[in-house]
Amino acid sequence: MIDTALEVAREAGDLLLERFGRLTGAEIARKGPRDLVTAADRDAEALIARRLREAFPDHGLLAEEGAGADHGDGPVWVVDPLDGTTNFVHGIPAFCVSLALVEGGRPVLGVVHAPALRQTFWGAPGQGAYEGDRPISVSVTPMLSEALVATGFAYDIDRLADDNLDNLAHLARRTRGVRRIGSAALDLAYVASGRFDAYWELYLHPWDVAGGAAIVLAAGGRITDFRGGDDWLFGKHLIASNGMLHDEVRRNLQPLKNL
Ligand code: IPD
Ligand code: CA
Ligand code: CA
Repeated sequence: MIDTALEVAREAGDLLLERFGRLTGAEIARKGPRDLVTAADRDAEALIARRLREAFPDHGLLAEEGAGADHGDGPVWVVDPLDGTTNFVHGIPAFCVSLALVEGGRPVLGVVHAPALRQTFWGAPGQGAYEGDRPISVSVTPMLSEALVATGFAYDIDRLADDNLDNLAHLARRTRGVRRIGSAALDLAYVASGRFDAYWELYLHPWDVAGGAAIVLAAGGRITDFRGGDDWLFGKHLIASNGMLHDEVRRNLQPLKNL
């Protein structure tokens, strides 16, 4: 299954690379004031859905642009065909394809493929995590003051009580730095590979996190929701870390107001 997932992610990545920097205005639409969707998102998703349905006719599909909407208990492929759409539209190469197989509410394998960065991450909890063919693991940074951490912001930030801006200010003063790359899946892959020591975000969707989360867990990291529980795949908020820093990061984040 991992081989097929890697093959499908690479095919979708090639499609994205062909369109990168070449989109016309007519190929870019808005889902909200800041939330863009392009012909590349839709075409990559159609390709992925077709390939996964051919290869795994009994599996479900939950994909961002609506190619599938399964939430069942059987195996479900959770797909973000283009994570980092705003970067993609602005010519910034931090975008990727994210695929995960979810069973019993948990991702059991994940692939995050960033074609313009030539970086491919994959892993299965209990069976190891890789970047290309190299094994990866989370960092061993024990202190928040030496940690490089990442976060992101929801598209409707101006309408949210939990807008994450207090957290940004607070962690910026207590860490080595905070990054906002613009792709949740890459943020997670960078925790898995030890580049980032931790990552948190609110108002996420399962397709943003499923692939990268599988790889973080496979690489020895820890993931919880903001309350310290396990409801992070469908629960919209998540903290991922190297494990050692997890509780300290969580203590430094504001308790949720409305989420
Ligand atoms: C977005 C990216 C971004 C995160 C947003 C996501 P999209 O996904 O992952 O980093 O901050 O919350 O919605 O729209 O580019 O697939
Ligand atoms: Ca996404
Ligand atoms: Ca997307």
